[in-house]
Amino acid sequence: MFEKLLLAVDGSEHALHATRKAAELARRMGSRELCIVVAFESIPPYLGEPNLQFAINTRKEYAEELLATTKKEIGDISCEIHTEVMEGDPAQIIIELATSRKSDLIIMGSRGLGRLAGLVLGSVSQKVVSHAPCPVLIVR
Ligand SMILES: Nc1ncnc2c1ncn2[C@@H]1O[C@H](COP(=O)(O)OP(=O)(O)OP(=O)(O)O)[C@@H](O)[C@H]1O
Ligand SMILES: [Mg+2]
Repeated sequence: MFEKLLLAVDGSEHALHATRKAAELARRMGSRELCIVVAFESIPPYLGEPNLQFAINTRKEYAEELLATTKKEIGDISCEIHTEVMEGDPAQIIIELATSRKSDLIIMGSRGLGRLAGLVLGSVSQKVVSHAPCPVLIVR
């Protein structure tokens, strides 16, 4: 039923919960593919060099570490794992990726790294739920 899964991670506790659910779902449903996406807001070019390059490198390292931790959390799994690190508006990236990869289900946390306490849904999950081309599983 859910053959192609799209998991969005930002390093938050909620995204970790989403990762565990995604792995469980993929195993139980015998999913074919699990795509993990990390998105970054664009780095403002006015930072100038060498700050710009430093920011790019730091991000790259952060993304690699986050993807490695996420894959470790998923563990041994028979479905194909694909990773994407992209720059731009995170919600838009998740929606576009789900569209282009023809995902059957998006899995994400209800909240992320944002500091506004009291919100039920963060802005990224809210936007994805509103505009996604497929069902969305929001994990607390
Ligand atoms: N940059 C990102 N890349 C990939 N997934 C993300 C990203 N940001 C958020 N997500 C996904 O969306 C979920 C909800 O995060 P969201 O950013 O909406 O909440 P928040 O950080 O608490 O609020 P806000 O960002 O509006 O301050 C996360 O658990 C994660 O699954
Ligand atoms: Mg956020």
